[in-house]
Amino acid sequence: MSARPRVYVTRHLPGGTLDVLRAQCELEVWEGDDPPPSQRLREGAARAHGILTLLTDRIDSALLGAAPNLVVVSNMATGFDNIDVEAASRHSVLVTRTPGVLSQTTADLAFGLILAAARRIVEADRYVRNGRWKSWGPEVLLGGDVHGATVGIVGMGGIGSEMAKRARGFGMRIVYSGPSPKPALERRYRMMYLPLESLLREADFVSLHAPLTADTRHLINEDSLRLMKHSAVLINTARGPLVDQGALYRALKEGWIGAASLDVTDPEPMSPNDPLLTLDNIVVTPHIASASVATRSRMALLAAEQLLQGLCGETPEFAVNREILAAWRRRVREGLP
Ligand code: GLV
Repeated sequence: MSARPRVYVTRHLPGGTLDVLRAQCELEVWEGDDPPPSQRLREGAARAHGILTLLTDRIDSALLGAAPNLVVVSNMATGFDNIDVEAASRHSVLVTRTPGVLSQTTADLAFGLILAAARRIVEADRYVRNGRWKSWGPEVLLGGDVHGATVGIVGMGGIGSEMAKRARGFGMRIVYSGPSPKPALERRYRMMYLPLESLLREADFVSLHAPLTADTRHLINEDSLRLMKHSAVLINTARGPLVDQGALYRALKEGWIGAASLDVTDPEPMSPNDPLLTLDNIVVTPHIASASVATRSRMALLAAEQLLQGLCGETPEFAVNREILAAWRRRVREGLP
């Protein structure tokens, strides 16, 4: 490559990632705390050979069509539902993502949300802050046990299997669902594969770890919530639209299920006036499941590495649309400075 490729990054990133990119590229970084407005994002992409995006950036057909030099979109996330991958493929733009490096950190938070809901940790904190702690009481803030309960893990990928590992340590019974059984993991964590409907009937905790696709949108809806135990807890650290939030509100308010913990909502950010926030039996965190210092640095670095590989025409390990590799390589050869 004779000249340096132009790269647009849609937010300031942790760790030394920007320096790594700056050493090899002409770098432009959107320095706002919020995502770039769509027009600015489109202009940034139009100038770039590669863009490093976050899950808050919508990469659609219009943006891709207006970016004649773009060859790689490197998404700093395991999910990539913010990107129109079909349109990227039509334009021979390679899309990459950052799975694996965040699985343990995400499972840590999901497990924290199980404990928070079961043991009413957030509600108990509010109780103390509001001056309601007058004495130890035998019936004050009673919750449910996590040990010995059944966890239903929906989606047994990298994060789902880290959930199983944690659940085993807590002495839980584990059931899981997904597109197909995973016999090796099943033996390792002594768990049982079930169709989703049976899992929903049996689980005390239902934890979602599936990608957002046309098939999984509103996977948890009125019908599925009505299958769950009245005491059950729903945990979502995957993507907000997996859950029909209107139905969830009725389920929590009318006692079809016991509680919910959401790290992801639909839309994001959740409005502080959302009816769900009027309820005591829900905990909501602002999409922070992968938010440890070390993990966010690893994600940023992995996204940058894949971007750089892509700009050199080397196949990044976590390319999403591998079916276009041949056409994409031709574009890289012809299109870069
Ligand atoms: C976070 O939600 C991710 O997909 O990495």
